[in-house]
Amino acid sequence: MSPDEAIDTSVDSMWRYSAVEAVPFDSRVSLGEGWTPLHDLGNGVFVKDESVNPTGSFKDRGMSMAVSAAVALGAERLVAPSAGNAAVALSAYGREAGVPVLVAMPQDTPQAIIDRCREFGADVALVDGDISVAGKHLAANRGALDFDVSTLKEPYRVEGKKTMGYEVFEQFNGDMPEVILYPTGGGTGLVGMWKAFDEMERLGWIDSHRPRMVSVQAAGCAPIVKAYEQGDDDIEAWPNPMTAAWGLRVPSPIGGFLCLRAIAETGGSAIGIAEDELHAAALQASEQTGIDFCPEGGAVWRANELLRENGTISDGDRVLLWNTGAGESYR
Ligand SMILES: Cc1ncc(COP(=O)(O)O)c(C=O)c1O
Repeated sequence: MSPDEAIDTSVDSMWRYSAVEAVPFDSRVSLGEGWTPLHDLGNGVFVKDESVNPTGSFKDRGMSMAVSAAVALGAERLVAPSAGNAAVALSAYGREAGVPVLVAMPQDTPQAIIDRCREFGADVALVDGDISVAGKHLAANRGALDFDVSTLKEPYRVEGKKTMGYEVFEQFNGDMPEVILYPTGGGTGLVGMWKAFDEMERLGWIDSHRPRMVSVQAAGCAPIVKAYEQGDDDIEAWPNPMTAAWGLRVPSPIGGFLCLRAIAETGGSAIGIAEDELHAAALQASEQTGIDFCPEGGAVWRANELLRENGTISDGDRVLLWNTGAGESYR
């Protein structure tokens, strides 16, 4: 199957890649997610802007696919713990599908995010602790026909996120960038892109050469950076995770070992960004580009500067920065 045969260019969403997806087309629950703009900022810097997704973050890709699958499988309720944006996305897609949603979040999650989930009709449980405590709360309160949409505990969110990799291929006209900077919490985007690249190699669209994948984390919660720097092949839980880049406050990512494998296999790296720097960078990036950068995107923006300074990124490299969500959701 060639790209021309596989990609339905008449569809302006991630569902243009449904030929390579595992979910039956007729159970599609879509709000128009994905196929987001790629901005060429010059000097080899590109930004993929996920803030324009239906609920304001790239979480919509995974939730569109997971809820589509859940509907096909007859789920009676959708449940997930979340650091924030995933809960909003799940609430929106659950409502679109007419399936009830229960989300559990840390109680210090921004009120705007909690309110949005409730506006979409979701039940919201607030827990005293981080996302892993939220996960335990749900495990203790789960019903037999609940579909658990937790990060990497079911296969479909990654299937949605893998469209990020297919979009990179398509928007770079098959000539992939040298470096990809991705703000990593649970790591589904990184793992999804890595899966897409693997699939595309098997399909004969690309060769075995890969963009260097870089995991960008907040210094206050950086289990992948720590493991990378120590040369470990799995992470250790990060004690006392502290960052207001909510999507990066994932102390014990279940797919941490997969992120480390993707980094190792592509000759990539991992870097932690100081808390004050990532917020300042988001503001600066927004002012400079007119794109609404979230703090996670700010971390990536700053990482690009630091990695150029220390020589990890060279002048000739084309670097793709993922702005994974809208800064507006945090205000
Ligand atoms: C805006 C934003 N960026 C990045 C992430 C991290 O995504 P992942 O958990 O797939 O690594 C999240 C997760 O909540 C997020 O909301």
